[in-house]
Amino acid sequence: AGEGDPAILNLPPWSTSLGQPVAANPYGMPSKFERGLQRRESPGLTRVGGSSVAFTPLQGLFGIITPSGLHFERHHQGWHDVDPSKHRLMINGLVKTNAVFTMDDIMRLPSVSRIHFIECGANTGMEWGNVAVPTVQYSHGMISCSEFTGVPLKEILDMCGADYKKGRFVLAEGADGSSMTRTIPMELIESGEVLVAYGMNGEMLRPENGYPLRLVVPGVQGVSWVKWLRRIEVGDKPWATKDEAVHYVDLMPDGLHRQYTSIQECKSVITTPSGGQLLLDKGFYNISGMAWSGRGKVTRVDVSTDGGINWRQARLETPVLSKAVTRFNIDWVWDGKPAILQSRAVDETGYVQPSYGQLRKVRGTKSIYHNNAIQSWKVVESGEVSNVQVL
Ligand code: MTE
Repeated sequence: AGEGDPAILNLPPWSTSLGQPVAANPYGMPSKFERGLQRRESPGLTRVGGSSVAFTPLQGLFGIITPSGLHFERHHQGWHDVDPSKHRLMINGLVKTNAVFTMDDIMRLPSVSRIHFIECGANTGMEWGNVAVPTVQYSHGMISCSEFTGVPLKEILDMCGADYKKGRFVLAEGADGSSMTRTIPMELIESGEVLVAYGMNGEMLRPENGYPLRLVVPGVQGVSWVKWLRRIEVGDKPWATKDEAVHYVDLMPDGLHRQYTSIQECKSVITTPSGGQLLLDKGFYNISGMAWSGRGKVTRVDVSTDGGINWRQARLETPVLSKAVTRFNIDWVWDGKPAILQSRAVDETGYVQPSYGQLRKVRGTKSIYHNNAIQSWKVVESGEVSNVQVL
């Protein structure tokens, strides 16, 4: 140490030579030193990449917005880069005038931009019975949060003269080969929150995320956010399509399946320190994480470092938005002894994120969807952090 740090004493090449010209990367890319941060498929989880999921690396992200290139992907039958000049949106069913919109037609309409999370109902789905995966990327990485731009679906239905009295449901259909069709209750559309979106984080949607058009259904599980949206039908009852009658159902402890559970309940997770990371030494750490609720705003997050015996209130960083990710932070001085880190979120309805014990009492252990239990990360004396379950 007496000799000084050469990294500060000697001028590096980037201080003594010309840098690269502008537009060397016409569409900017992250630093080559950040290449490790990527969407990743969970090895062995699915058999073919066309019907699979790539998880967002939550452990390396800050704030509330997911960079578009790291937004998680879930496809039932692969993705296409759809030619927008050939894409159409059809409106039919209980409307006065059936209509077919081109992308140009849609992009002329009044638009709004809103920040919302999208979480696959299957997020954390492998953890119902016991610990299944090592990192937060795989345990919680089926959530992303973006600014979406588009037209409220209500505006488009108004233009077509939708019969809101009889037409209490809409069916949304995607243009891919998976025949993805989902029923959306009309109340959600009447609230003005459901968007027919073409923009994400200030640019057009990425092909993997539904370019050129997808449905945005704030607070509702990702499967209803139909990508490559090609048709909206107004009807008087739910359609009971394959992806709502057979898939995306919850097996309850009494052996019955629950259908149409679509709202993503309040949930949170600590993203640093988290599974697979290493604390270098005892001393100060910033514990950081994400909280969200499909029912509105997050009002409070408490953090425990002793497995749920004592809790301290975390700082909620602005902005705190409805049905969006909220970033929380809290100071922690690690004494070098074993610790268990947990976060517990509360939303504006007063709902408190449950422990695994509380959730399993109601839901059992055989579900896939809607696991919003408190996540625990164990820190051992070596500084290694791993995934554990605490009831
Ligand atoms: N829409 C279509 N047309 N096809 C699909 O396979 N997958 C759904 C939904 N919309 C899907 C779809 C599922 S299950 C989820 S979780 C979200 O899209 C994922 O959106 P993302 O890939 O943009 O993250």
